[in-house]
Amino acid sequence: MAVRKILYADNPKLRQKAKKVKVFGPQLRQLANDMIETMRVSNGVGLAGPQIGVLQRIFVAEIPEEDDDPLSGKPFVIVNPEITKRSAEMEEGQEGCLSIPGWLGEVNRHHSIEIKARTVTGKPIKMKVSGFLARVFQHENDHLDGILFVDHIKDPEKLWRVQTEDDGSYVFEDINALAV
Ligand code: NI
Repeated sequence: MAVRKILYADNPKLRQKAKKVKVFGPQLRQLANDMIETMRVSNGVGLAGPQIGVLQRIFVAEIPEEDDDPLSGKPFVIVNPEITKRSAEMEEGQEGCLSIPGWLGEVNRHHSIEIKARTVTGKPIKMKVSGFLARVFQHENDHLDGILFVDHIKDPEKLWRVQTEDDGSYVFEDINALAV
């Protein structure tokens, strides 16, 4: 496995629509493993292909274990996802993005969704996810269409800089340039 370089939000690749995965072989497995490793070392809960410059419809997700969500605490590799159902119920919650380091925002998402996708080996799957994992899935699925979480935030007060203790970690400064 290898850690891949994460692109920042001013990279035009993050604004492109990713293409469907057509070949399910060892290279895809390798890509998925690299994405999981990259997500974990970056302390992320999700990572989409375009974020490492791969314009294919694949994302990985893994949220910390929660008692009330049996899908938490395990890694998912989702290929060619299609959201087939969205709950009417919406929920505001905090989001960040590995491509926009140093920023958090409040984003309104569907509380639960159903998706149709393929596994890394090409097997068709259907999943119903809710709560935080549904939020992550919606955020990552957006990346496949060139959409960033900041695009959903219309009120500037709902987007804020994270206070860092001058630890030298990179902060994406040009947030206004992302306005669409
Ligand atoms: Ni993101």
